[in-house]
Amino acid sequence: MDVRILVTDHLHKVFHELAKRCGIRVDERLGATRDELLRLVPGYDVLVVRSRTRVDGEIIAAGRKGRLRLIVRAGVGLDNIDLEAAKRYEVEVVNTPTASTQSVAELVLGLMIAAARSIAWLNYRARNGVWLKERGLELYGKTLLVVGFGRIGRRVAAMAKALGMRVKAYDVIDIERSARSLGVEPVYDLCEALRSADVVSVHVPLTKQTYHLFSDKLFECMKPRTIFINTSRGAVVDAEALLRALEEGKVYAAGLDVLEHEPPATPAEKKLLEHPRVIVTPHIGASTEEAQYRVAILSLAAITRRLGICCPEAEEAIKPVCDQLEEMGLNC
Ligand code: MLT
Repeated sequence: MDVRILVTDHLHKVFHELAKRCGIRVDERLGATRDELLRLVPGYDVLVVRSRTRVDGEIIAAGRKGRLRLIVRAGVGLDNIDLEAAKRYEVEVVNTPTASTQSVAELVLGLMIAAARSIAWLNYRARNGVWLKERGLELYGKTLLVVGFGRIGRRVAAMAKALGMRVKAYDVIDIERSARSLGVEPVYDLCEALRSADVVSVHVPLTKQTYHLFSDKLFECMKPRTIFINTSRGAVVDAEALLRALEEGKVYAAGLDVLEHEPPATPAEKKLLEHPRVIVTPHIGASTEEAQYRVAILSLAAITRRLGICCPEAEEAIKPVCDQLEEMGLNC
């Protein structure tokens, strides 16, 4: 079977090795521009992207005129893919939603502790010859509000409980049972919940409804000295409003793995980058060896299964990945 895959973002090398063993041709065009994509995509059955490549309706239409049948989003968020267009042109879209859950949750914990203790700022000062203590905050006994109680939110909640935190969760869907089963208190009024939270961690997808969800209005609901963490999508937060909240003391410190513009482009984003109580990482939530290995295996397995390619090597590789995810309480 002559199957061609186009990859436009960086994937773990195991994807390429395994595809080769399955006899599938993979062409890698890292950093391909939109124009290049429009030109290339009709020649491929499958397009594999991470969050950098924007797959809009025109690209999907161009692909459909050629061989394109499947788009694999090697990761979680689908906000960079025009899902309506994909549906209209009957191009299937799959992602690997569980592969990076643990890595993102671990980063959240890291950012929470780093923000509470100003680790990045104090490290910077120490390196520059300023050896001065600064009093931070403990997380034990504090209230964490998880906004968005999907896989990552639930994982963060479980880890935070192990730190001795009290955890509340908010979502637009009914989370009563899933929250209670983890010993988490479900809350239904976001502003009200923000008034009692010491730490807020955001885990919502980027949609029209969540764009700039965290703007002045919600920051005003927060109690003073809140620690604010965002590892979901940058555009869920209005950077200018966050800056004001930091200046007014509503937000004590922030840990941001994502920004609306990556790399930071607006004056507010650049100020956040320089702020002593803000830690910014370059969208590394899923960027661990383990998560990227799982993403690669699950992406390839999705392709072989969807396109009916018989490849025992891919099936063999997926087994331990699924076993591990199951052990974590996640599915493949
Ligand atoms: C995701 O949605 O999977 C993450 O933001 C990470 C990525 O795409 O690399």
